[in-house]
Amino acid sequence: MSNRANTNIVVCDDFDAASRHVASRIANAIATTPKIVLGLATGSTPVGTYRELVHLHHEGKLSFANVTTFNLDEYIGLGPEHPQSFRSFMQQQLFDHVNVDARRTHVPNGLADNPATEGKIYEDSIVAAGGIDLQLLGIGSNGHIAFNEPGSPRDSRTRAVDLTPSTVEANSRFFDSIDDVPKLAITMGIGTIMEAKQIILMACGQGKAEAVARSIEGSVDESIPASHLQLHGDVTYVLDIQAASKLSAIDTIVNRDV
Ligand code: PGA
Repeated sequence: MSNRANTNIVVCDDFDAASRHVASRIANAIATTPKIVLGLATGSTPVGTYRELVHLHHEGKLSFANVTTFNLDEYIGLGPEHPQSFRSFMQQQLFDHVNVDARRTHVPNGLADNPATEGKIYEDSIVAAGGIDLQLLGIGSNGHIAFNEPGSPRDSRTRAVDLTPSTVEANSRFFDSIDDVPKLAITMGIGTIMEAKQIILMACGQGKAEAVARSIEGSVDESIPASHLQLHGDVTYVLDIQAASKLSAIDTIVNRDV
């Protein structure tokens, strides 16, 4: 059974509107708590949000001077300089364009000799920073969050994981060839993500509609990792109309933001 009553769903007209909405939530959170600890995501979904945050910063309306960030995941085998690494992505999309202190930006080390040790170090760093205040998430069309693929346990922590063939294929669009896509990653676990005080899951496009509906309205089930979020007390789903299109009660969602 779904805990739908606890969910806050915002449906926006399109990707740009959803991006502006998420960015304004993040900007407000930073304004309220300048020393906020943000959990950040990579992929196509947050690109517009980061563009908007950079814009707000350039307008003098947003400072990252005291912000700390932790990214969800990184490919194993790609170093920070590799153009397809998630560290590179974050530098290009956000960090290089705002006044964040580089020492306070964290991405798992994809070149760590021992990913298990790296996972522990990463978890310890999150705890030392005081925990994640606001976590931004995307969702895979298979319902994954970060690289927690279907079957990931609810109590999983930061660790090395195998990527499913569907995720490798989805991510191959960023690489010259599918053979270049790493098959392993280090990712925050579902247990790690669930400890964030507040979560925003953003999803856009028809390809996410099924995963979104099953995550919000289906049973909490390891086959849809995002469904675990039903057990978190403060999750907001920011969707475009297409990603929301398979929700059964779309007309009753009051938080429509267009
Ligand atoms: P996307 O990926 O934002 O590139 O669609 C999201 C995810 O796989 O979590």
